[in-house]
Amino acid sequence: MKKILIIFAHPARTRSKMNSALRAAVEDLENVTINDLYANYPDFLIDVKREQSLCEEHDVIIFQHPFYWYSTPSIIKEWLDLVLEHDWAYGSKGKALEGKIFLQAITAGGDDCTYKKDGCNIFTIRELTSPYCAMANLCNMNWLPPFAVLGIHQGLSDEEVKFHAEEYRRTVIALRDDTLDIEKAKHGQYLNSDLDSIIRRS
Ligand SMILES: Cc1cc2nc3c(=O)[nH]c(=O)nc-3n(C[C@H](O)[C@H](O)[C@H](O)COP(=O)(O)O)c2cc1C
Repeated sequence: MKKILIIFAHPARTRSKMNSALRAAVEDLENVTINDLYANYPDFLIDVKREQSLCEEHDVIIFQHPFYWYSTPSIIKEWLDLVLEHDWAYGSKGKALEGKIFLQAITAGGDDCTYKKDGCNIFTIRELTSPYCAMANLCNMNWLPPFAVLGIHQGLSDEEVKFHAEEYRRTVIALRDDTLDIEKAKHGQYLNSDLDSIIRRS
């Protein structure tokens, strides 16, 4: 079994519907650790050694967050700036994250049609998250496309929220149990575009 670290960042957790549902769907799973950044560091004073140890102890690192201004909530940027130290995460001696799987689990107000060249957001989610792909590459991590739940501003029904939460649980279990076809998954637009085609039956 692989060990999964979910680095969770939502600055207004009590108002969150989608991220709360996604998180609730996975937090009881064996070998899954939830690291809630805003709960642990309300003053943004990140404990670098604790965060590095957590990363070292896990095989899969997931940043789970709402999409804020085409990016992450700000505490994730702070986390990156402090935790990914030279000669730990990257550089000639920086091997701590080598071979680990990295992905983002993103929720966004805009729907898929808005995230394209002729849509109001001009760029695709894959293009907008490319700095995270570059970060994973520099740290010799195995990058996967984002697990994405889009169109939240249109108002998702309770059934749709439940569906996405179940898909997230399926994805996390497949990553943990090594039943997800990593190479095939890399080519999809989103990790959850078609889970049946990338998750092997165990
Ligand atoms: C400060 C802020 C910035 C946001 N920026 C974006 C954005 O760039 N693109 C987008 O599609 N939605 C954006 N949204 C909408 C959130 O992504 C959306 O409300 C969130 O994913 C819903 O998840 P939740 O129910 O867990 O809060 C933004 C919301 C806030 C509050």
